[in-house]
Amino acid sequence: MKVVIKKDYEEMSDYAAEVIAQAVRSKPDCVLGLATGSTPCGTYAKLASKHKQGLDFSRVKTFNLDEYLGLAIELDKPYALDQSYARFMHEEFFNHVNIRKENIYLPNGRPEDPGEFCAWYEQEIKKAGGIDLQLLGIGGDGHWAFNEPGSSLSSRTRVVELSAQTIDDNYESFYKVSGIEKEKMPRQAITMGIGTILESKQLLMIASGEKKADVVARALQGPVTSEITASAIQIFKGNASVVLDEPAAAQLKNC
Ligand code: PGA
Repeated sequence: MKVVIKKDYEEMSDYAAEVIAQAVRSKPDCVLGLATGSTPCGTYAKLASKHKQGLDFSRVKTFNLDEYLGLAIELDKPYALDQSYARFMHEEFFNHVNIRKENIYLPNGRPEDPGEFCAWYEQEIKKAGGIDLQLLGIGGDGHWAFNEPGSSLSSRTRVVELSAQTIDDNYESFYKVSGIEKEKMPRQAITMGIGTILESKQLLMIASGEKKADVVARALQGPVTSEITASAIQIFKGNASVVLDEPAAAQLKNC
């Protein structure tokens, strides 16, 4: 695992975007695994600028990590009223690059049969040849995607219950500004599993800010445990990079 420490959020985002751009340049039809949350917004903005300078996404396929269960993408609604991750991805990234609609895979927040949908999503990842590069954040509770504490490290795409901490964190970051009451937030989600994520060929994890310092140190240097599912990065067999800003790296030892 390669740990890269950058001065601030801006430089972290620059570095992460360049890792993704290199993957696209070296394999124009690569399969990217994408993440949501406040951390990757800067990375997506930098990728949009690279696209303006010629970076071509026309053959790239993307698979997103997760989606709230019960929300459907509603592109005709004002942003604040649609807190789906599908909407987030269009606003933050897809609308700014030349990715083709048919190459975008997002977990469906309102599947008729969630179990069937999860199996289909796994199959589509396999059919695409697997994920070449998976972008990941880390939750305040140590999660990757919505693999909350207690999720098996061999878990697959499935329906999960959100932890109290994730509900609090996401309310503060997203729902509060939208005026949606905390009680009305979704309590469940569809998420790729840790086992699914670990089958990617390359991982790129990003984290920013002192609020993440403790959980980052526990994930990277503590025991590998399903209580902090991002600690699975320590048993990943492929090429993994962790890009942190200085505040997020503050509690790492001997790094
Ligand atoms: P954040 O979320 O980027 O909003 O901190 C990260 C995550 O939950 O993976």
